Amino acid sequence: MQKAELLTIIEKMSPKEKVDQLLQLSADFYTDDAEDRTGPMETLDINETTIANAGTILGVSGAEKAMGIQKNYIENNSHKIPTMFMADIIHGFRTIFPIPLALGCTWSKEAVEEMASISALESSVSGLHLTFSPMLDLVRDPRWGRVMESTGEDPYLNSEFAKAMVTGYQGDDLKEDMSKVAACVKHFAAYGGAIGGRDYNTVDVSETTLREKYLPSYQAAIDAGAKLVMTAFNTIEGIPASGNKKLFRDVLRDEFNFKGPVISDWAAIKEMINHGVAADEKEAARLAIEAGVDIEMMTTCYDKHLLELIDEDPKYMDLLDEAVLRILELKNDLGLFENPYRGADPVKEKEVILSASHRESARKIAEKSMVLLENNGILPLSQETAIALVGPKATTGDLMGAWSWQGKFDEVVTIAKGLSAKGKNVTVASVESDLFENTTESLEEAKQLAKENEVVVLALGEADWMSGEAASRSDIRLPQSQIDLFNEVRAIAKKVIVVLINGRPLDLTAISEADGILEAWFPGTEGGNAVANILFGDVNPSGRLSMSFPENVGQVPVYYNTENTGRPYESAPDEKYVSKYLDVSNYAKYPFGYGLSFAKVAYEGIALNKETIDSSDETVEVTVTLHNQSEETTIETVQLYVRDLVGKTARPLKELKGFTQVALAGNERKEITLSLAVKDLAYVHPDLTWSVDPGEFHIMVGPNSRELDLVKTLVLK
Ligand code: NOJ
Repeated sequence: MQKAELLTIIEKMSPKEKVDQLLQLSADFYTDDAEDRTGPMETLDINETTIANAGTILGVSGAEKAMGIQKNYIENNSHKIPTMFMADIIHGFRTIFPIPLALGCTWSKEAVEEMASISALESSVSGLHLTFSPMLDLVRDPRWGRVMESTGEDPYLNSEFAKAMVTGYQGDDLKEDMSKVAACVKHFAAYGGAIGGRDYNTVDVSETTLREKYLPSYQAAIDAGAKLVMTAFNTIEGIPASGNKKLFRDVLRDEFNFKGPVISDWAAIKEMINHGVAADEKEAARLAIEAGVDIEMMTTCYDKHLLELIDEDPKYMDLLDEAVLRILELKNDLGLFENPYRGADPVKEKEVILSASHRESARKIAEKSMVLLENNGILPLSQETAIALVGPKATTGDLMGAWSWQGKFDEVVTIAKGLSAKGKNVTVASVESDLFENTTESLEEAKQLAKENEVVVLALGEADWMSGEAASRSDIRLPQSQIDLFNEVRAIAKKVIVVLINGRPLDLTAISEADGILEAWFPGTEGGNAVANILFGDVNPSGRLSMSFPENVGQVPVYYNTENTGRPYESAPDEKYVSKYLDVSNYAKYPFGYGLSFAKVAYEGIALNKETIDSSDETVEVTVTLHNQSEETTIETVQLYVRDLVGKTARPLKELKGFTQVALAGNERKEITLSLAVKDLAYVHPDLTWSVDPGEFHIMVGPNSRELDLVKTLVLK
C-alpha cells in the first residue's frame, strides 16, 4: 500500500477510531487463555468497541489463535485495518537460547544474529509480528535484575549486538520475508542506570555520559532499521521518558532520524502521575503525545482524554494524525494490509518450533556463552571419572531464565540429563535440593556422594524469578543454604566443580575454594547438554564476560571503562590519599572480557601499520601474533582497547574498539590484524558533539580488559 492510501484511510477514520489505534491491550482482552502478563493489571474500564478497535495486541501466541483474532478484528473494523501482534521474545520463542547477558558473553555477532533469526521464525509462524527486543540498556549494576536482558556494560559491544539482533529479527525485507518479525529497541533511554540497582528507580546521568555510553547501542539498532522504540520507565533529569520531549523529539527523531512509532512501556504514560509530573491522566496524555509517544501500552490516558485535548486545541489533532500514520505505516511495512495473517501457519508451527536444528543451534550458542571462571587443572573431566552431581540446579528444568514465557520446563535438557548422557560414571543425588534450604537428608546424601566419588559437580545458582523485571537484589551472593552446601561438600570432596545458573554477576567469594567454576548463566533449552560438552572437554570454553563480576556488592558499580581520578591508586599504592577502598580492591573479581579456556594462548608482539596519522578518516591496522602453547584446539577472543591520553573531558583508561575470534589449532602460531577506524576514537565533547582530538592514543591488545600487555602509541596530528 502506498502512503497516499494510508492517508486516505486516516482521512476517513473518526477521531475516536484514530485514538483507538493508539491503544495497546494485552491478549487476555481477546482470549481466555492468555499467558504473557508482563505488568500490573488494572481495570481499564473500556467498552467492547474500544477493545475491538485497539490498534495493537500484546502477548498473543499460537497461529490459530492469532488468525482467529485477526479475522474478527478486520471484520469489525470499518476501514479493514489489521491489528498487529507484539510480544516479548527476548531470547527465543519456544526454543530458548541463553539469556541476553550470556549472549553478550559469546562475543559472537553470528551467534546473536542466529538466535534472533530462529526466534523470529518461531514467533512468526505462531502469528507474531513484532518482538519487544533488543533490550539495549547499558548495565553496570548487578543488583538490577534486568542486567540479564542486556548484552552488558560496554557501548561498543552492545552496539555490535544491537545490529546483529535487528538483522536477525528483521532480515532485509519484512514485507517479503514472512519468517521475520519487526524489532523494538528498548528502553529509551538509560533504564539500566537505575539508582541502587532498584528496578524502575530514578536515573541521573550527565548528558555526556548519556550520549557517549548509553545512547550508542540504541542508535546502532535504529541505524540498522529497527521498526519500533519503547520508552523507559525511569526519569532522566527528573523527566519520565514517556513524557520526555527532548529524548523523543530532539534526540530520537531529529538527531537519530527515527521514523517509526514509539510505544510506551506498560502503563508508563499513566505512571507519570506517580512520578509527580502529571496531575491526572489527561495531563499524562498531553505530555506523552507532545513527546511523540504513539502507542499507549495497557493504560487508557489517550483513549479517555485525547479527544478532550483536541477539543481544546486542534494542534492535538495533528499530533494524533501523525501517530496514526506511523502505526499504519508499520502495519504496512509488515505487509499486513495485503496479508493480515502474515507468517501465521499452524502446519509450519508444528514443523519448525523446537525443531532438532533449533535445539542444535541453542546448544551451540549456549556452549559459546558459558564462561569458565576458574580451573585449577581439574577440567576437562574424563568420561570415566566418578562424578557426583549435587545441588538445587542439578535436576531442574529451571535453566531458561526470565522472559521465556513460551519455554517449557519439561522440554529443557537438565544438567543431570546432560552429564548422565555423556559421562560413564555419573551419580545424580536422589534427594532433590531446594534453592534456599538444605534438609538433613539432602546434606547427608551430598556428603556421602562426596566421599564416594572423585569429583563433585555442584549445580548452584538462582531461580528464574530472581532476575529479570522487578527482581532487584541488594545481596548478590548465593543463598546461604547453597554456601553451606558448598562448605559441607568442600570439606569432604577430593575435587569440587561449581556450575552456576544465574542471571547476573554474583559475589562468588564464598565458593573461591572450588577447583573449577563454570558460569553457565541461564543457558536455555539445551543447557544440560552444553554444560556436559564443556565439562567433558568436547567443547573448549570460549565465552568472555560482557559484564564485570564484583568482589562484593560494596564495589558496585564496578566496570572496566573507568576514568582516572586526580589521585589514581595505581600511581601511589602505598599512599593514603588515593582513590581506593580500605577494605576491598578497586578492581572487579572477574573483569570485562575475562574467561578461561583449556588452552594457553600467548600474545606476542604488536605492530601498527602506521604510528602517525594525519586525518581521522584513516584506518590503522593493528597486528599481533597469537601462540597457542597447548595441544588444545581453541577459540581466542582478541580484544582491542584504546586510551586517549588527553581529552577535553576525562577519558576512560581503556575502551573496547574492536575484537575478533580466532580459531587456533594445538601449538599453532597465527598473526592476526584488527582494523581501527580513527573516527571511532571520537567522543562526546563538552559541547555535546562527537569528534576526535589530535594527540596521542595508546592502542592495547590482549585477552581481556585487564591483561593488556601489548601497547603501542598512535599519534594523530
Ligand atoms: C514491561 C517491560 O519493561 C518491557 O520490557 C516489556 O517489553 C513490556 N512490559 C511488555 O511486556
